[in-house]
Amino acid sequence: MPAHAAPADTPHPAALHAALADWYASHARDLPWRRTTDPYAILVSEVMLQQTQVARTIPRYAEFLASFPTIEALAQAPVADVIRAWSGMGFNARAVRLHRLAVEVVALHGGKLPPTAVALRTLPGIGPYTAAAVACFAFGASEPVLDTNVYRVLSRVAHGLTPPSRQELEPLARALLPGPGAPLDPSSWAQALMDVGAALCSVSAPACGDCPLERHCAAAPELARADAPRTLAESSVPYAPKQGTFAGSTRFHRGRIVAALRDLPEGGSLSAQQLADAAGGRSPAEIAALVDGLVRDGLARRVGGGAALP
Ligand code: ADE
Repeated sequence: MPAHAAPADTPHPAALHAALADWYASHARDLPWRRTTDPYAILVSEVMLQQTQVARTIPRYAEFLASFPTIEALAQAPVADVIRAWSGMGFNARAVRLHRLAVEVVALHGGKLPPTAVALRTLPGIGPYTAAAVACFAFGASEPVLDTNVYRVLSRVAHGLTPPSRQELEPLARALLPGPGAPLDPSSWAQALMDVGAALCSVSAPACGDCPLERHCAAAPELARADAPRTLAESSVPYAPKQGTFAGSTRFHRGRIVAALRDLPEGGSLSAQQLADAAGGRSPAEIAALVDGLVRDGLARRVGGGAALP
């Protein structure tokens, strides 16, 4: 058998659909972006959830949509307002990319996000994951939505503790999509897998005994062994991206500078010295490099030797 081929006893999709549908009926998380099919709102949630946890995203999502209820409202807003509304989310460049995307969709597509993953992929700032998620959750497209949780669950179910690459898992994820007559649709299927991944199938302490997929899962018998490599994910698997130390990193200092710029009254700017203070006493050369990066990402503009929001 090739290294990452699915085991011969890969479960029948219908058995997985039935088990997951039963579980999801009583365990689905009630998340605000699951109560809408507005493609714009779902896009906002997916961009937020890419790098921010669910609990932190929930209040920010509501606030963001209150400030920018439609893609037109977002496109018309000054980008500085969008950066301010992104406060507390981290990875601020996402706010600028979302704003650019809104401007393009309004200018070139009449404010309508296209309904297929292929067409969504052609828009600036939309990668394969976001395209699949918006197509599936907003438009009901039959697309596998492979975030890290779904990847881990399907990988364990079909491949045990020897995870395949994303390219290898994708065809299997597609083959497992529920079709007409299945007890859940592709959107509920993906969100149910996300919930299993979040609630039960964690990286290091999977609760197989509570999992609706246990009977169908190639990893469950292996994970039941006391010496199972539960931290395998951290060492070698694509579903556990490594994050460096945050404090003291470039991202940390960029965040401090953007936070200081965001707190200024409208039209205000900070001098180089004030930027250095905001970034915890970095050297002038380091401040210049940080500001260069922020300007490149559309998060700041230069004002004299200092900077302001764009
Ligand atoms: N992460 C990304 N998309 C999500 C969703 N729709 N529900 C829960 N977690 C998510």
